[in-house]
Amino acid sequence: MSDIEEGVSRHYSAYDVLPRIRAGLQAMGRDPDHVEPGDLKLVDEFHIGGAEATAALLSELEIKPGMDVLDIGCGIGGPARTIALEKKANVTGVDLTPDFVEAASTLSSMAGMGDRVVFRVGSALDLPFADASFDFATLLHVGMNIADKLKLFQEAHRVLRPAGVFAVYEVMRTGDGTLAFPVPWAEREELSALAAPDAYRDAAAKAGFRLDGETDRRPMALDFFHRIRAQAAGAKPSPLGLHLLMGPTVGQKMANMIDAIKAGTIAPVQMIFRKA
Ligand SMILES: C[S@@+](CC[C@H](N)C(=O)[O-])C[C@H]1O[C@@H](n2cnc3c(N)ncnc32)[C@H](O)[C@@H]1O
Repeated sequence: MSDIEEGVSRHYSAYDVLPRIRAGLQAMGRDPDHVEPGDLKLVDEFHIGGAEATAALLSELEIKPGMDVLDIGCGIGGPARTIALEKKANVTGVDLTPDFVEAASTLSSMAGMGDRVVFRVGSALDLPFADASFDFATLLHVGMNIADKLKLFQEAHRVLRPAGVFAVYEVMRTGDGTLAFPVPWAEREELSALAAPDAYRDAAAKAGFRLDGETDRRPMALDFFHRIRAQAAGAKPSPLGLHLLMGPTVGQKMANMIDAIKAGTIAPVQMIFRKA
């Protein structure tokens, strides 16, 4: 593991997520050992827009039943479970953070999906899979922790079959303003590898991808944050939510990220690439 990878893995493993999620489910009156996959959606889609953003991305991907899909930087497995359920695809998730991979597998079993998705520990920069193993690869809010974008795209290109699709939904730098830390993906600036859309496009082209579509999701993000703030006003916080993955500085992390999106400094951007 490189220094940044060690720091990133420590950042995401800091909060002992599985017992917190089980306690949150119990507080909501659920039996943690018998949940529906949908019960986990408040906590297992660790990116701006949550399950809505995953649905928006998937609506643009023609994933057919039985296809092989790799979710790179799968976190605790929410997007991977969604793809397996909705597209009836064979989904593998890979992530740098062993605690998240363990949580992804355990949550899948708790949701009766233990045999539908496979999770492995591994780096996006050295994927533990043979060449041409997958039809689709996805990357949701992972690239901002990875400095070497070219290697990231080269690895995705290597494991995809001919004409395979790499769907990317990432926080990117879209303006010159200052970004205050902490943010959800980095307690301090050294762990953040934010890059502009051009850097993603260039790395993808050099690795052998063609850009098939690009959408700036800033309007969706602003609407999403507006809605969750309105819902949260005056209400007791839900026992289950992304706060369980972000520790005691969650308020500051979210505020810094939302301020930067409002200012136009950063934005979530979706890009769909095809192996040329
Ligand atoms: C913000 S979370 C997003 C998780 C998931 N994609 C989702 O949307 O729910 C970022 C994830 O990227 C993983 N990650 C960061 N750098 C990585 C790398 N070099 N290789 C594999 N995973 C990485 C982290 O461990 C973490 O689980």
